[in-house]
Amino acid sequence: MKHTFTRRSAIALSALVLAAGAHAQGAEKLKVGLMLPFSGTYTALGVAIENGFRLYVDEQGGKLAGREIEFIKVDDESDPAKATENVNKLIRRDKVDVIVGTVHSGVAMAMARAAKESNTLLIVPNAGSDAVTGPMCAQNIFRSSFSNWQSSYPMGTVAARQDGKKTAMTITWKYAAGEEMTNAFKEGFEKEGGKVVKQLTLPFPNVEFQALLTEIASAKPDAVFAFFAGGGAVKFVKDYAAAGLNKTIPLYGSGFLTDGTLDAQGDAAQGLFTTLHYADNLELPKDKSFRAAYAKAFKLQPDVYAVQGYDAAQILRVGLDAVKGDVSKKAEFAAAVQKAQFDSPRGTFTMSRSHNPVQDIYLRKVEGKENKTVGVAAKALPDPARGCKL
Ligand code: PHB
Repeated sequence: MKHTFTRRSAIALSALVLAAGAHAQGAEKLKVGLMLPFSGTYTALGVAIENGFRLYVDEQGGKLAGREIEFIKVDDESDPAKATENVNKLIRRDKVDVIVGTVHSGVAMAMARAAKESNTLLIVPNAGSDAVTGPMCAQNIFRSSFSNWQSSYPMGTVAARQDGKKTAMTITWKYAAGEEMTNAFKEGFEKEGGKVVKQLTLPFPNVEFQALLTEIASAKPDAVFAFFAGGGAVKFVKDYAAAGLNKTIPLYGSGFLTDGTLDAQGDAAQGLFTTLHYADNLELPKDKSFRAAYAKAFKLQPDVYAVQGYDAAQILRVGLDAVKGDVSKKAEFAAAVQKAQFDSPRGTFTMSRSHNPVQDIYLRKVEGKENKTVGVAAKALPDPARGCKL
């Protein structure tokens, strides 16, 4: 007994000494779990998000609310089947303070479920899953990007109202993002009197487009709307042009079709119209400084994903400042983020009650290596947040 007592005392004492040491050195590091695709068709998107996030943290001297940042990375492979296990590594094994992720809507829904159950902070830097800021919305879940609906509804209205298209076909990968974006396009297009005559899909992340392109060529709709992104978007836009369809049936998309992809798409993308919450020629002071800093740091031009990563870090900074680095204060964190207005490369950033950005959706046209704004397709557009009870 005596021996046990002594050992316990020694352990307790050393724990005290350790704690005192940590205190003397200032706050503990803030653990940020980066769950992103670092392999597969969305790899470049994951990398751009991480770059953007790190750029903002570096601009703050490597600290947020006085806490240094420790990054823990998980490659989610854009695979929903592995998502719960992957996110639980960050929550249970690494005990991160905040999770930043991800790109793929199906993976993000599993992450939102786990974050909600464990009351872990989650900032989504891309995935547009309508459910995440709809029925699954929560005090501890935020999005720095867009909802799938928000990205594509305005393209439908422009194609019908402004361009006078009467019939359209949609084509996408069969999963939440593709389905929600093509349905939002349909909603906007049909509200303005158009008719979506067929919705084509193929499994994610397949790129065997030939049979579907043949079907489009023989159906001859007035327009086609597509959602693809990353490596798949490069291949789709090139195949569409190689089939000669770009000469006969205008191709529209949510802006992911041509964002971060123009070097690889080359001539095939020229003249395409898309809608998105960012463009390459906004000429806002914040955007200019962001683009210059990003290009200098990474020897790469930024894209929408880089902006979303940067703004995920801004959301974290706003919330952390309000709670002085104490992530357990979820209500105060959320209240601060919700009333914040900060400067994003895309323009002034504000959040709706469901924690999704309220933002201008630009109409863009590909010219050379840039998605240039040619107008605003929807001004200060919120997501309808159907089913969110916050
Ligand atoms: C999504 O799965 O929500 C997603 C993926 C890539 C994008 C946009 C949305 O570019």
